[in-house]
Amino acid sequence: MSESNSNSLNKRKLEHIQACMDDSVDLQRDSFASLKLRYNAFPELALDEVSTETDFAGHRIAAPLIISSMTGGIGPEFNTINRNLAAAAEHLNVPLGLGSMKVMLRHKEAEASYRVRDSFPGLKLIANLGLVSFNYGLTYDDMQRIMDIVRPDAFGLHLNALQEVIQRGGDTNFKGLLERLEDLVRRCPLPVFVKECGGGIAPDLVHRLAEMGVAYVDVSGNDGTSWASVEGQIGGNEMGELFKDFGLSPRWILENIDSKRLGSTRIVASGGMRDGIQAAKAIALGASYVATARPFLIAGVESPEAAVRVGQRMISELRTAMFLTGSSNIANLDRHVLIKS
Ligand SMILES: Cc1cc2nc3c(=O)[nH]c(=O)nc-3n(C[C@H](O)[C@H](O)[C@H](O)COP(=O)(O)O)c2cc1C
Repeated sequence: MSESNSNSLNKRKLEHIQACMDDSVDLQRDSFASLKLRYNAFPELALDEVSTETDFAGHRIAAPLIISSMTGGIGPEFNTINRNLAAAAEHLNVPLGLGSMKVMLRHKEAEASYRVRDSFPGLKLIANLGLVSFNYGLTYDDMQRIMDIVRPDAFGLHLNALQEVIQRGGDTNFKGLLERLEDLVRRCPLPVFVKECGGGIAPDLVHRLAEMGVAYVDVSGNDGTSWASVEGQIGGNEMGELFKDFGLSPRWILENIDSKRLGSTRIVASGGMRDGIQAAKAIALGASYVATARPFLIAGVESPEAAVRVGQRMISELRTAMFLTGSSNIANLDRHVLIKS
C-alpha cells in the first residue's frame, strides 16, 4: 500500500466515525418486533438467581454481549475511543472487537490505538481485518504480526461487499474468498470470528462457514448501521441511498439457520441490536451472543462510563426478559419462550 493510500485509509476511518454519529445512517429497525416473548406468570425464579454468564474463547464472560469491531488508526481520536471501549469491556467483562487493523500493518504509529491489552490485561479481545484485503496483498503473515502485537483471543475477518461497492475506490474483487478463508482458518491458532458489516450472511453460507471450522459467525444483518448509507454520504455516491436497505434481516437469518449443521460453531446476532428484549429473542432463536456497534461508538466517544452504561442497560434488560420468561440461564433461553404473532 502506498503512503497516500494509507493516509486516505486513516482519513476515511475518521470520516466513518463522524458519519456514524448521525442517526441518518442507522436503519433503526427491529425485525424481531412481531415476535413475542412468552411471559411466565410463575417464573419459579428469584431475579437475583438469573445468570447471564456464558463463555467466549475459553473465558467466562458476564453476558452474551460483544462490543462490535469499530475503529483504530493514527491519532488521538482513535486512541481515546479504543481505550474508553476497552475500559468498559473490561469492567463489564464482555468481549471487545477492535476495528480493522490494515492501517497498523503499514504504519507503526497506528499500533498505539490497538495496544489496549497492555493497560487492560483482563480483556477478551477480537482482532479484525477485511477478508477482501487478502485479494489485495495481505497474507497469513500479516495475521501473525497482529497476533504478536495485539495478543487477541479470537481473530475477526470481516465481509463487506455492500460497503466496498458503494465506497469510492472500494476493493471489489471478492473472487475465491471462501477458499482463502478456509486456508486462513486452517493456519490460525486462534478461534476465527467471521462477520459481516450490516449486510447479513445467508443461512447456507453460515452452514458452509461452520463446515470449514469457523468458530464464531456474526451474521450482522440489516436492522442497524447501513454501510451503504455511510459510504454513500462520504463519497457522494447516490447509490448509497438506493442500497441503504439492501441485505438480510438478522431475524430471517437466525430463523433459517439449521442448528444441526453448526457443529461447534457459535452464532452471533448483530446489526441493529439495541436492547435486551431484542437480545433475548435473538438468543432464543439460536444465537449464542449479540453484538452491538454504533451505540457503543457514540458512548465511547464520550467516556468509558458512558460505554459501561450502554452495556449495563442491555445486560439488565436481558436479565429482566430472562426472569419474565422463567429462564434461569442463557442455555434455558430457547425457542420455547417465543410466540409468533
Ligand atoms: C464507526 C464504525 C466503524 C466500523 N468499522 C468496522 C471495522 O473496522 N471492521 C468491522 O468488521 N466492522 C466495522 N464496523 C461494523 C460493525 O462492527 C457492525 O457490524 C455494524 O455497524 C452493524 O452493527 P450496528 O447496527 O450495531 O452498528 C464499524 C461500525 C462502526 C459504527
